[in-house]
Formats: sequence, structure tokens, C-alpha cells
Amino acid sequence: KTVSEAQLKSYYEVAVDLVKKCGPLMLEGYQKGQTDFKVKADFYDLVTVYDKQIEDKLTKGLLSAFPESLIIGEEESAATKRLPELTDAPTWIIDPIDGTTNFIRRIPHCCISVGLAINKELVVGVVYNPPADELFTAWKGHGAFLNGQPINVSKVSKINQAVIAYEISLIHAPSVRDKNIKRIYKLASNATGTRCFGSAALTLCYVATGQVDVYHIEDLKPWDLAGGAVILREAGGVVCHTNGGEFDIMKPNCVCTSTKELSKEVISLIDEANQIMEYTFK
Ligand code: IPD
Ligand code: CA
Ligand code: CA
Ligand code: CA
Repeated sequence: KTVSEAQLKSYYEVAVDLVKKCGPLMLEGYQKGQTDFKVKADFYDLVTVYDKQIEDKLTKGLLSAFPESLIIGEEESAATKRLPELTDAPTWIIDPIDGTTNFIRRIPHCCISVGLAINKELVVGVVYNPPADELFTAWKGHGAFLNGQPINVSKVSKINQAVIAYEISLIHAPSVRDKNIKRIYKLASNATGTRCFGSAALTLCYVATGQVDVYHIEDLKPWDLAGGAVILREAGGVVCHTNGGEFDIMKPNCVCTSTKELSKEVISLIDEANQIMEYTFK
């Protein structure tokens, strides 16, 4: 089924409004600092009462406005231990707090992230960082905005002029660890600088504003990237699979860049990194 512009606009407006309404709740937890947390399935995956409350509020609000829509949310998926399949139905992909570790430690890189997929295509993105008062929004075909002002990616097209955002936190499994270390070695050796912000959703937005030029991440979940991917694309950026193919939100391994040229260069450096054989840590 095709979706009218009017319908899309109403999805966008309701999502922006609801996400904004969750801001004070997130800020309350953030300002407390050292909010109580629980460890989920693994020692590095933390959750607070705020994650659950925000996801609840968003889910209820979105389903009451759009009863025909579906939800894929981080905490609900954790509770049921199952990642729903993406269908053609309008589906909200929700990360109630992206950057929970930052949230608990009062590092102002944490946000609420909501993306909407229709016919398996990402069409609406809202990413809100209450501590820094940054509201990033976009809907397909209408550009991307930070607090209502249009944003655009940088024009950087060469890696030696690029700042690359990269996460080296996902190194628990030896194969993931070695892969990431080889890649960061290759990318960092060729770039102006590297940054690690601890929130995937916000990092996509920082590429969208031109603050950084590249973000490469693998092994994350749909909710980490859905909202930010729409914002980055609408700001003129490129989001593709690490192999140069099409980005798949349900298995969101990606290279995200300001320009197509930069994307090609990053992908070829990752290829080179993958060939490094003698580099394994014990
Ligand atoms: C995390 C953030 C972080 C990434 C982690 C994610 P969460 O999400 O996106 O940047 O490195 O792997 O799990 O758990 O704070 O929502
Ligand atoms: Ca988490
Ligand atoms: Ca997340
Ligand atoms: Ca989260």
C-alpha cells in the first residue's frame, strides 16, 4: 500500500510531539546521576527504570494515535527474548534510551530514538537528546532538522580530511574484537581523527550535521540506527551496508558517510583491514 504525504506528515508530527513529551522524564533520570541500573543478558548491557518507562509511554502514545501500526522496541524485545520480523505494515522502531551507559554516568550523549518503516522502508526519524537540548527530526523527502533548523552533511570526500566515528565497545566476542581492532587501525591511520560517542543514534545525527564525516558500526540492533538513518539520509548523507550493498535495518551493519566518494574509500579500507591475517590478540 502506498502512503499519502498527508499520512506521512501526521506520522511525523505525532512522533515528534510524543518524543518531546518524554524529554522531562529522561532529564529527571539524567539529572539524578548514577541512576540505579540492572544488568540485562550481559555485563555490558544496562537498563534503568527510565528505559522501560519511556518505551512504555512511546508505545502507548503511538498505538493510540495509529492503531494499525506495529512496534519493535528494545526493552519489549528484551523481555520477550524475540526480535519481531519487519513486515510491510507501518512499524515504529524504538530505542527509549540510546546511550544508557552515558545516561547513567551523566555524559550528555544520550537520546530517545524513534524510526518508522513502511513497506520496509525507513521514512520518519526522531532523535532527541534532552541533556543537550538537541532535537533531530526528518521525514522522507523533506530534509533533516536540528531544533527546527535545516542541517546538512559535510562536503568531505577524502578520508585524509575526515573525522571518523567508530565504536570499539563491542569487543566481547573474539571474532568481533579482532575485526574491530583491524578496522580501527586501518581507518584511524588514514583519517584526521577518530571519535567514540557511545550513542549510535546520536552519532548518525553528528554525521548529519557535518560534525563528523564517517560512522562505521556492525553487530548493533535495528533500534540503534532506525531513527538516525532517516535523519542522515535526509541531510544528504549515505547509509549503506559495509559491503557497499543496500542497508538492511534488521541487520544494520553499516558505513555511514557525508559523501558517496568517502563511502567508497572507507569500504575499500575495511576490505584491506579484513585481509590482515597476522593480527590476533590472545
Ligand atoms: C548502545 C549504543 C552504543 C553502542 C552499543 C549499543 P544502548 O545502545 O548505541 O553506542 O556501542 O553497542 O548497545 O544499549 O545504550 O541503547
Ligand atoms: Ca541496551
Ligand atoms: Ca541502543
Ligand atoms: Ca537503549
